Amino acid sequence: MPNGKRMTRRNFLGKVAVTSAGMLASTRSSVEGGLSKNHGPSAILNFSSMPDFSAVRVDFPWASRKLWLAAAETHPFNVHTIRAIESYTQYRLLGPGEGRTYFTRDMQSELKRLFADLINAKLEEIAFVMSTTAGENVVVSGMDLAHRGGNVVIDDLHFPASTYLYAALEKQGSIELRIVRHHDWKIRLTDMEKAIDRNTRLVSIALVSNINGYMHEAKAISDIAHANGALVYGDIIQAVGNTPVDIQAMGIDCAASSTYKWLMGDFGLGFLYVRKDLQGTAIKQTRYGLRALKGLKGRDFERREDASIYEETTSMPNLPGICAYEGLKYITKLGIENIRAHAKPLTDRLQKEMPALGYVPITPLDSPSPIVSFLTPDPEMTKNKLDKAFGEQVVSLSRWQKTNDKGETEIVSGIRIAVSVYNNDEDIDRLLNALST
Ligand SMILES: Cc1ncc(COP(=O)(O)O)c(C=O)c1O
Repeated sequence: MPNGKRMTRRNFLGKVAVTSAGMLASTRSSVEGGLSKNHGPSAILNFSSMPDFSAVRVDFPWASRKLWLAAAETHPFNVHTIRAIESYTQYRLLGPGEGRTYFTRDMQSELKRLFADLINAKLEEIAFVMSTTAGENVVVSGMDLAHRGGNVVIDDLHFPASTYLYAALEKQGSIELRIVRHHDWKIRLTDMEKAIDRNTRLVSIALVSNINGYMHEAKAISDIAHANGALVYGDIIQAVGNTPVDIQAMGIDCAASSTYKWLMGDFGLGFLYVRKDLQGTAIKQTRYGLRALKGLKGRDFERREDASIYEETTSMPNLPGICAYEGLKYITKLGIENIRAHAKPLTDRLQKEMPALGYVPITPLDSPSPIVSFLTPDPEMTKNKLDKAFGEQVVSLSRWQKTNDKGETEIVSGIRIAVSVYNNDEDIDRLLNALST
């Protein structure tokens, strides 16, 4: 230690605050206040049915001090995550000791279990990957789509990285890519049915669309896919953590999600789900890292019999792991049904009040996700109003591809509002007031 002084938690944080001024300094006091007063972990454990969401709000200093209606982009950390990060960085700085934790094997396994429980999968069906896109790439190479021919069916509410992946395979002559177009910002089952046939190898959907929060009729789509011998991949990053996802009931064969959005973690770690009976068979191992092994005796590599055969490292990204662990514990304690119930009246308000301000709704009224989007007739005016009111980003302003009545693609501008556990009616008031001035 410099000067041989013991680094206590308080003077460690003090040093961080001094070096990083403003934002960090104020985060420090809120975090310490939040943890040491009434909002320790017990604040969310002590509820019988519906948690106290006003206490939850205090756990997210960013979102309780400023407006943040963009969790579909990235989710703020809660104070428990900051404490866990601090404990880990202290470990890395000072080595093992009181209050200092590593991201242990048990925690890694517990993290997978928390995710598995959240989507109704089994522990052995979950692998760590770097991101959603990395997970989908593992599936595509494991299925050997580049050499098997046939077609892949997606739709135009999918995430562009997936479209890029399959368009690249099509360009190299490996597959035929079929893109089902939306009608009125929804995907018709009849159109999926027309696109899927005996030559379909994979149907890839974003379970909840990043554009408008539209949730696919997953079970019906997977029934059609399975009847034709195809597998279903679900990009679940905009669903898991905010909406109940039952991967088995939905018939999804493989799925992936990063942890930096609704799972409240950080960038650089995600989960891949692969149904047990597909592991090493329909979806082969194409990555080789020691995490895939049970044991190692010379050249005698004993492979594990679980989804870790898809992991391509020996080590783990510990910090993102710790963040995801805290995020998933928090979500589990809150309960996914409660999270959903908390967001619903707020998204209902937006659905009701935004059209009166001239914004054109593109999210179905019965959408179960907490993402609601609207077309902005005058995007520049909307941006100016928001800049004037808040001076920084509070929602997502984007450009999307709309399929018009003639089936042609038009570029449209829109606003996407994502409601999470820390938002409340006052947040919605602030947004609506800013847009109505
Ligand atoms: C539906 C969807 N899929 C994938 C991604 C990106 O995933 P990743 O960064 O985990 O590869 C996003 C990011 O916004 C998304 O909204």
